[in-house]
Amino acid sequence: MGIRVENLSYSYSGNRKGKPVLGNISLEIARGEFAVISGAAGAGKSTLIKHFNGILRPESGRVTVDGLDAHTREVRRKVGMLFQHSQNQLFEETVYKEVAFGPSNFGIRGEELEKRVHETLSLVHLDVGILKRSPFSLSGGEKRRVALAGILALRPNYLVLDEPTAGLDPEGRAKLLGRLQNIHGKGVGIVVVSHNLEEVLPFAQKLISMEEGKVVFTGSPEEYLRAGHSPVPPLARLMKELNKKGADLREDIFTAEEALKELQKLRQEEPEKEKGISGKGTAETEVAEKGATETEIAEKGATETGIAEKGAAETEIAEKGPTEKGATETEIAEKGAAETEIAEKGPTEKGATETEIAEKGAAEKETQDNA
Ligand SMILES: Nc1ncnc2c1ncn2[C@@H]1O[C@H](COP(=O)(O)OP(=O)(O)OP(=O)(O)O)[C@@H](O)[C@H]1O
Ligand SMILES: [Mg+2]
Repeated sequence: MGIRVENLSYSYSGNRKGKPVLGNISLEIARGEFAVISGAAGAGKSTLIKHFNGILRPESGRVTVDGLDAHTREVRRKVGMLFQHSQNQLFEETVYKEVAFGPSNFGIRGEELEKRVHETLSLVHLDVGILKRSPFSLSGGEKRRVALAGILALRPNYLVLDEPTAGLDPEGRAKLLGRLQNIHGKGVGIVVVSHNLEEVLPFAQKLISMEEGKVVFTGSPEEYLRAGHSPVPPLARLMKELNKKGADLREDIFTAEEALKELQKLRQEEPEKEKGISGKGTAETEVAEKGATETEIAEKGATETGIAEKGAAETEIAEKGPTEKGATETEIAEKGAAETEIAEKGPTEKGATETEIAEKGAAEKETQDNA
């Protein structure tokens, strides 16, 4: 099961005499996995993924999807592909026809087709009002969402996207990544080709890195970081920076949730140590703990950094007592994120916000924006 590439080589006819564009590539993407393919311009990423649903046929080697040869008709339905610059590839008179094109090609008609179109629109947060419009009258971001809807209407088992966030503004990028995360949550395998690792790594279960037609790294994002590859995503960089200032935090951190858990360890561990030594009454212990935490942080030489701010937040927790803990934790998260401007950049947080909006049935709000 999954997408399996075995000893794949490929050259475009014009390149036949030179180096092959893909040279003996083998890899596997499991069903339901979120994989990211990265690599410099010209590395062969787009050429590789075009083999995943038979657009290109291997010169040598083999590509299968769930055990079926990749150029079979069933695989064309199973593997939905959003091309690079997909916004330029719309061609129908109306958005409705554009979204209905794929499923009607696979024999879906009438009510069932209409149902598919509407269901898919809501997945990409477009309002039904858009269906009658010409795709050419839409903004670049809207066009991309229509292209994505056209693919999702086939209910693919795998969604392969070539640089899907290129050319979108930061908000549009975060929203699109949030949508992909939601789609992945429904069990669809996602393969994203991206230059922007910082942006996609928080979601990735597997990273495939290419150089000059070869796969040079395959593994989890954690393994990628441990192997010392760069670029390093922003939260992992924050952890690294805090460790330089004396903290002892995991550095293979990709999401705000993981970062918060890791930072909370600081708060839990330090008072524990102090309790063991002092054996004092509750009120006294609390004061001692506060002092110890602050002193320890100061000892780590972090007074002028974000750790000092976190120390302040800890003090606040102690002062406010357990009932206000939740609120204070949020404050810590906000402070932590604000320090590195991750809140603005972090796709996970925006993804979550988007889900909330969707749940509140406010999809029509989004039709105004560009992404
Ligand atoms: N249709 C084509 N005909 C001939 N050569 C091509 C064709 N498409 C791509 N190539 C060449 O194949 C190589 C790999 O191109 P490909 O588009 O797969 O790279 P990529 O990793 O997707 O790059 P980018 O990040 O710029 O999108 C490049 O040298 C490119 O010039
Ligand atoms: Mg490409």
